[in-house]
Amino acid sequence: MNYSPQKVLKMFALEDNPHFSIDILHKAIALGKIPNFPKSRGLRKKSWSANEIPLIGEHFGFLKKPKRPIVICVFVTKGGVLKSSLTLNLARVAALHNIKTCVVGLDMQGDITSALGLNRDLDNEDDFETALNKISAIRGLPDLFNDQAQIFDLIENTDLPSLDFIPETPELVNLEKSLALTNRREYWLKNYVIEPLKEKYDLILLDASPNWNLLITNALAACDVLVSPLECKINNFRNFKMFDSFIREFKWDMNLNFAHHYVPTRWQKQRKLSVEILNWYRENLDNCSQFSIPESGQGEESSAMSLSVPEYTPGHPLAIMYNQLIREIFTLMQAQKLKEQNIEYRIRDTKKEVESDIES
Ligand SMILES: Nc1ncnc2c1ncn2[C@@H]1O[C@H](COP(=O)(O)OP(=O)(O)OP(=O)(O)O)[C@@H](O)[C@H]1O
Ligand SMILES: [Mg+2]
Repeated sequence: MNYSPQKVLKMFALEDNPHFSIDILHKAIALGKIPNFPKSRGLRKKSWSANEIPLIGEHFGFLKKPKRPIVICVFVTKGGVLKSSLTLNLARVAALHNIKTCVVGLDMQGDITSALGLNRDLDNEDDFETALNKISAIRGLPDLFNDQAQIFDLIENTDLPSLDFIPETPELVNLEKSLALTNRREYWLKNYVIEPLKEKYDLILLDASPNWNLLITNALAACDVLVSPLECKINNFRNFKMFDSFIREFKWDMNLNFAHHYVPTRWQKQRKLSVEILNWYRENLDNCSQFSIPESGQGEESSAMSLSVPEYTPGHPLAIMYNQLIREIFTLMQAQKLKEQNIEYRIRDTKKEVESDIES
């Protein structure tokens, strides 16, 4: 994938800035603030490759690295509502800003693993044995659970140096069953996966399956922010009411603190019912995003290409929507971290007060 200066301006929403132009990118290259175009056969190209883009995004983009590592879980109990597409877009756009990101796939279907490009061309492999060997070599969370691998052995890289992931393997089914027999069964992921990953990554994204199981409760126990896509269709409307009360109850019972954010998806401008449902979500949910993802062929194509919409079709209304949505989620997660920090300070101060009371 090549990233021309024009494309970069659109991807990072710089073209709307009247003070910004391609000249500024060239000046930044001359001053050594951003990387120069790479060379090919001794000649300087006119565009960057995925390798250089995060350093440009860090300098000119619209997202800032979180001060402390953040964990986002993308989950709702409904299939096909753009959970994995949202995860892919969040992951790539964050990584394009040089935010060190790791996606942990929790769905046995393996959609996010394929979307991130793992063994994408395996079906084109000529011989069965080679393909089988390659697929059998993939390590995932079950290998960690069974002490057959260390956490950082599971990491797979992508074309973006700031984006890694832990792939899904079919044995996730066994892991889910085994978790049921462990002590503190909701905290395995947090203790053995998320906490170690926080040492290396600024952002950890958990892509969940649509069914309620122990991998999901583990993800909820580990996350700072839960993002739930809400499809603008009547069947999902009924599902959402049930889901919402389920999450509130779980949060209360487990004494969890994560922020919860809804994102309307797959609405269709030409369908009256779909627009009415979208408006209902916006008017009646105080934790509903201002932004929503419409039904769109571009969304589907970009996922198939393992790209975020802003990379695949920069400047397109869907790309602008994704950028605004991701910016909103970032603002929310910074606020959530601040809230948690304040709670920590309050607990620390109360502890100090109690200790000094005891002493006196
Ligand atoms: N804006 C869009 N409009 C329509 N389809 C889209 C859009 N963006 C992505 N898609 C496609 O919709 C399909 C379902 O999306 P996705 O896999 O993200 O849903 P999901 O909620 O993760 O599904 P599951 O519950 O099976 O995990 C995919 O084929 C994806 O490429
Ligand atoms: Mg999915």
